[in-house]
Amino acid sequence: MQKLLIKGKKELSGKISISGSKNATLPILAASILAKHVTIKNIPLVKDIFTMVELLNFIGLKTKIIKKKNIIEIFNFDKKINTLAPYKLVKTMRAGVLVLGSLLSKYKKAKVSLPGGCAIGTRPVDLHLYALKKLGAKIKIKNGYIYAEAKNGLKGTKIRFPSISVGATENALIASFKAKGRTVLKNCAMEPEIKDLISFLKKLGANINLKGRTITIKESKVKSSSIIHQVIFDRIELGTYMIAGALLAKKNLLIDKIQPNIIKSEIDILKKIGIKIIKKKNSVNIIKGKSLKRINITTKPYPGFPTDLQAQLMVLLTQVNGVSKIKENIFENRFMHVPELKRMGAHIEIKNKTAIIKGPTKLTGAEVMATDLRASVSLVLAGLIAENRTIINRIYHLDRGYEFLERKLKNCKAEITRV
Ligand code: EPZ
Repeated sequence: MQKLLIKGKKELSGKISISGSKNATLPILAASILAKHVTIKNIPLVKDIFTMVELLNFIGLKTKIIKKKNIIEIFNFDKKINTLAPYKLVKTMRAGVLVLGSLLSKYKKAKVSLPGGCAIGTRPVDLHLYALKKLGAKIKIKNGYIYAEAKNGLKGTKIRFPSISVGATENALIASFKAKGRTVLKNCAMEPEIKDLISFLKKLGANINLKGRTITIKESKVKSSSIIHQVIFDRIELGTYMIAGALLAKKNLLIDKIQPNIIKSEIDILKKIGIKIIKKKNSVNIIKGKSLKRINITTKPYPGFPTDLQAQLMVLLTQVNGVSKIKENIFENRFMHVPELKRMGAHIEIKNKTAIIKGPTKLTGAEVMATDLRASVSLVLAGLIAENRTIINRIYHLDRGYEFLERKLKNCKAEITRV
């Protein structure tokens, strides 16, 4: 099994270019089932994307990835379509459940494996099913599978999500495209990745309006011509490298291929902590602050502070003066990195949903392992600031979501090797 070896305490400098967003590409790939031919640019070459492409191939679409250019072309000839998302693919990547909306909308039926729990929480899909039922789908759960059917097609209606969910908003949005009449979705997630999905669906011919957390979709036809879409940058990858710079860029770390206005709350928080950030149109410069200040943060849906950056921020908070608190409000079990960070010397205590971090602490290298993508990358950040050598096990988690992680960090003078 592959591992990462990191020799810590190397100053970071240079430039990192941010890849396309994994969490924007996944629903766009799922929505491609509705189209005849799409070209998607700026896709990140990471494991979760390859798994989704495998699922599209299984369903019967034809895909062509041009790796050198980060482009995928997808053709749907409507031949030999399998309206099934099998357990073996959905269990490794929960976003597989997003094909439910497109299959149901286009082929009026779908059989999709229930994703089951995962390392960060139980993560049910009840809100996805609630919306699809409201749109007229008949849904049964049997033998671990969701059986969904809409013999006469889906019908537009008003749906208010009882709580905000990124995936349920995406599934409902994709399903509503061809639903008869008008669909109004209320209390939606409004992550930039959802806005990117909307811009993709609009290119396909969808008639969509946004107002606050309400999305209105009028029944439309899918364009028969082919479309091209460029995926937005990965704001979580950006946040991760901004924190790396906040920890180790004494002079300057330039991060480009981004839009700083999309991560306003993260920039404000890092500035409050004492990190120097210079915003340009498509880049940011990060310079490590001299005296870092404590902060209390709660993870929230966008535009709040993202749960996907909680573990990385925690590493930064081990280096600030005083006691900081992070309340994890999105997932019930997303502190799995804490015991590993403690093994490296961090002073962190967990009380219910809140992690209490005492800083500053010197971290020392250790052999560690992580249980999910963001927890793993937080250990990389910890390894980069720790004394001596850190060995990170189970790095397949990192490969699910970070494109060229070692290459990007090595280019900025980090000592990191995959063995
Ligand atoms: C998306 O997951 C992201 N994944 C996650 O990124 C991210 O952490 C999460 O949104 C929150 O921002 C993708 O975009 C592929 P949710 P999703 O539905 O859609 C509960 C990463 O590291 N819930 O917004 O699954 C759920 O259990 C990942 O890249 C229900 O109760 O998240 C959670 O507590 C991990 N019933 C909360 O809502 C449902 O039917 C928010 O989940 C659906 C969700």
